[in-house]
Amino acid sequence: MSDTKTNERPLVEVKHLKEYFPINVGLFRSKPLKAVDDVSFSIRKGETLGLVGESGCGKTTVGRTILNLYKPTSGEIWYDGKLIKTKADIEEFRTKATMVFQDPYSSLNPRMTVEDIIGEPLDVHKMYKTKEERHERILELMGHVGLNSEHAARYAHEFSGGQRQRIGIARSLAVNPEFIVCDEPVSALDVSIQAQVINMFDELQEKLGLTYLFIAHDLLVVRHISDRIAVMYLGKMVELADANEIYSHPLHPYSKSLMSAVPVPDPKIARANQRIVLSGDIPSPLNAPSGCPFRTRCQYATPACAEAMPDFKEVSKNHFVACHRVAEINQ
Ligand SMILES: Nc1ncnc2c1ncn2[C@@H]1O[C@H](COP(=O)(O)OP(=O)(O)O)[C@@H](O)[C@H]1O
Ligand code: SF4
Ligand SMILES: [Mg+2]
Repeated sequence: MSDTKTNERPLVEVKHLKEYFPINVGLFRSKPLKAVDDVSFSIRKGETLGLVGESGCGKTTVGRTILNLYKPTSGEIWYDGKLIKTKADIEEFRTKATMVFQDPYSSLNPRMTVEDIIGEPLDVHKMYKTKEERHERILELMGHVGLNSEHAARYAHEFSGGQRQRIGIARSLAVNPEFIVCDEPVSALDVSIQAQVINMFDELQEKLGLTYLFIAHDLLVVRHISDRIAVMYLGKMVELADANEIYSHPLHPYSKSLMSAVPVPDPKIARANQRIVLSGDIPSPLNAPSGCPFRTRCQYATPACAEAMPDFKEVSKNHFVACHRVAEINQ
């Protein structure tokens, strides 16, 4: 998180993004699984937008669809003021935007050396003239993520989870990206090393001027790195605000329950913050409730909540919420 960015124009703009997967429900019948259903947001240059929500709510699909790894069902992605539309746009965009994956064990080929893993994108994009230049660049990238040069000739399987994640990040940095979708990059790591890796993301952002969409299901993970935080539920965005604001004043009933689960170090505050435990499971996106997607688990639901999806409205400056009853609930 850096402080120099607040008024800059958006680098990434996502407008009414939908990603529906056709699922076979009979021999000749398919039904759309609405993994992402009309999501809009933007990310400023140099900013980190945290994206949180329970497993299956559509976070990874948002990240992959922004990068055009999935073709959007509908909606638009704008980058640096330009609509990404044609094949040429997508190809150019791929040199500026990339993804860091969740699982450092399955995303790297264990039989390749570190040098070859990091060098692969350099080869694909023909980013060097001589072997020497390639090697120098690989060592530079390894330096960025805190790996030393002796590691270059070793194989991925010889490394711990945290170090593998560093190798994966160095590989993602090889193309000199401006924007990185970080898809739960520390969830598979030991809690003891999560903070180190998050700090590294923070330092890299400062050093290289990066912009992040930082996905996590754990709120503690995104709290320190995010400038703003977006909360998703069942393919929809339900709340978006500055990180401090959403921690201190969550307005949507779902965000309130997520925040109440975050451990607070001060016992006095912890006692005052009653834990809100949600009943029931998250419904399947194949059979999403009508109207507000959260209504089957919401203690404030009324029959009107089943009628229509609430608009995603700005209820105070830069604080957006999708709930019909947001004013009454937060009196
Ligand atoms: N390629 C796919 N084909 C069909 N369904 C998918 C695909 N990818 C994700 N889904 C479904 O879309 C929903 C959202 O998934 P995902 O974006 O992975 O959620 P999250 O990252 O928040 O856990 C889930 O119900 C998941 O099963
Ligand atoms: S719209 Fe209704 S069901 Fe949905 S969060 Fe608000 S009060 Fe709960
Ligand atoms: Mg995911």
